[in-house]
Amino acid sequence: MLTHALLLLTLVAPDARLIDTISVDAVMGHLRAFQSIADRHGGNRAAGLPGYDASADYVAARLREAGYTVELQPFTFEFFREIRPALLKGRRAFKGVTTLRFSGSGDVTGRPVGAGDGCQAADFGRAARRAVGVVSRGSCSFRVKAEHAARAGVAALVVANQRGEQGTFKGSLVVPQRLPVVGVSHEAGRQVLRQGGVRVVTRTRTDRRTTRNVIAQTAATSPGRVVMAGAHLDSVPEGPGINDNASGSAALLELAIRLGRTTPERPVRFAWWGAEEQGLIGSKHYVARLSERQRERIEVYLNFDMIGSPNHTYAIFDGDDSDKKGAKAGPPGSARAERYFQRYFDARGLPHHGTDFKGNSDYDPFLKAGIAVGGLFTGAGDLKTAEEARRYGGTAGRAKDPCYHEACDKLANVNEKVLEATSNAMAHVVSKYAWPRT
Ligand code: PHE
Ligand code: ZN
Ligand code: ZN
Repeated sequence: MLTHALLLLTLVAPDARLIDTISVDAVMGHLRAFQSIADRHGGNRAAGLPGYDASADYVAARLREAGYTVELQPFTFEFFREIRPALLKGRRAFKGVTTLRFSGSGDVTGRPVGAGDGCQAADFGRAARRAVGVVSRGSCSFRVKAEHAARAGVAALVVANQRGEQGTFKGSLVVPQRLPVVGVSHEAGRQVLRQGGVRVVTRTRTDRRTTRNVIAQTAATSPGRVVMAGAHLDSVPEGPGINDNASGSAALLELAIRLGRTTPERPVRFAWWGAEEQGLIGSKHYVARLSERQRERIEVYLNFDMIGSPNHTYAIFDGDDSDKKGAKAGPPGSARAERYFQRYFDARGLPHHGTDFKGNSDYDPFLKAGIAVGGLFTGAGDLKTAEEARRYGGTAGRAKDPCYHEACDKLANVNEKVLEATSNAMAHVVSKYAWPRT
């Protein structure tokens, strides 16, 4: 009887076993495709630009070949791009001037007027009208400073870095502004104030655009809640985004292709998010459109953003808050996801550590909606500590991804061994949910 049942099982579903390994060569093949897409479309795959659309077409085509019905979920977002580097000129041109995200375009000349940190409307006195406002970074958002400046009739705003900070900085005004807003070093800010007049030139472009999430789901042999796995498919406009985040996208695609050949017990839903780099727009849109019932049907959301960093660590989201840092524990079920990843790395003798939910990737809308979350992350622009170098190898004092958000985030920026480990961890953990009794 038992042997009959077993025989039947193997006949009906010869492949109905969990997928525990995926080929890193296949993942690298998708990564090369994303690199070549960026090469053919101006060096990036950013949302709202042709490199993103080509990336979405690539994922959708591979999914359809694997038998999926693909959903392209459209949504709009505020597209921003710096068209030309900012110019700031007094008696001579300043170096290291950054255009803040959502700065307006303009070419203005005016007298520099200091306005403290610009966090109070009164910081910009009458003298600020048509002048170039100079404020220090900190105490309130860039947006508040810019809005106070605009209301006072300031022609352009220069934000100087805080005392003790080296060089300039990047930042976002969050909502589009008419006023040109640039960032400079602390020292440059002091020098600007010593000029009789300064010229500020920014060339930016802001408009509402439509882009798409790519979504597909497997069949299932028994009904039950859905396991979701996602990766953002867009890059920043500055580069091809191969570690951030063709790495997660490629691994997810290969897992979807493999799962397309079997029928798991529980449905697996895959999502490639658009416009993550513009503020998690695609994943926020997706979660906002779920009904309460649909939300409850998602057992867990697993996030894969930057999983092949060249100077890596293996960070697993701290679902149970055992690290007692920052955000509290994730929604119920998040601890289980963390444990599954930990066990995978432990079983292979690979080091790992917890990382806090900081709200800066696509798991955040799920977490805020009370859905269990988990996932992997191998490091961005933050420097590797001596302790991390001891545990993981690599170089202390160097960024985990020195090409983070830069033009050099190319194929050569990805550590294939790291990507092999994380891709397989992804396959393993998704399979644990998809075949809950194994
Ligand atoms: N979401 C960030 C980015 O894409 C990086 C990041 C990845 C942060 C994973 C936290 C966790 O730029
Ligand atoms: Zn990024
Ligand atoms: Zn990312």
